[in-house]
Amino acid sequence: METRSKSLLGDKMEKEAYEFSILRTDAGGKQQYASYRVPKDRISTVLEGLQYIERNIDRSLTVRYSCRMEICGSCGMEINGKPRMACSTIVSKLHTDRLKIEPLKHYRVVRDLVVDMEPFFEKYKEGLPFIIRDDDGVYDSELKQTPEEFKEYEKYSMCIKCGLCLAACPIVGTDADYIGPAALAGVLRYNLDSRDRGKKYRLDIINGEEGTSRCHFIGECTEACPKDVDPSFAIQLLRVQGLKHEISRIFRRGD
Ligand code: SF4
Ligand code: FES
Repeated sequence: METRSKSLLGDKMEKEAYEFSILRTDAGGKQQYASYRVPKDRISTVLEGLQYIERNIDRSLTVRYSCRMEICGSCGMEINGKPRMACSTIVSKLHTDRLKIEPLKHYRVVRDLVVDMEPFFEKYKEGLPFIIRDDDGVYDSELKQTPEEFKEYEKYSMCIKCGLCLAACPIVGTDADYIGPAALAGVLRYNLDSRDRGKKYRLDIINGEEGTSRCHFIGECTEACPKDVDPSFAIQLLRVQGLKHEISRIFRRGD
């Protein structure tokens, strides 16, 4: 009888807990999975599950997060094999009680679920993600823009630099020098901005060997993007811009 009630209790606990299997990496780079049971009634998101573990079971678990509302872009990780934001991934919507949590692919792991984002930001900077002007930059008033002009690039300005698209991209996995989907979406964002005059500089960059020509339009980046930036479509539009840029350069040279 006692055995049966223990087993019933075990069944109940089984139903009331999620199992988090987390790939942990220590300071020396040694990796191993560790499993934790998290009560279902204490959490809603994956991040809350990780916080529960950190606060109640194992204080050594290392996770990076800040806003907890899909704005800061810092809590990206592989959740059941897909790059996702831990703070906006609702556990019940994964339709399983077993969660496999790993650091983002294609990044160097610093510790546990924290990866080194430096190469991501270096690539992002390569695309000159700022307004470039061709005048002296001294104005009597602000540079105005109509709502329609803003709409042109609004979608691409929603990027939170989370890096999920690079983790999802199979090209990034084989060619570390490829500028990548986030930087290319950033290039389009500034190229479409009515205040900008730097399009020609950016197109020279993205027409290079590690630019848009490396993309195979598999679309994994768009699927992974939590903000609907649609980097895959941005790359297609950039290819058209890049082609026009090359053609006009040939005509200017008179080749
Ligand atoms: S394009 Fe999307 S997935 Fe890529 S860094 Fe920006 S928000 Fe993240
Ligand atoms: S904690 Fe800021 S995006 Fe998840």
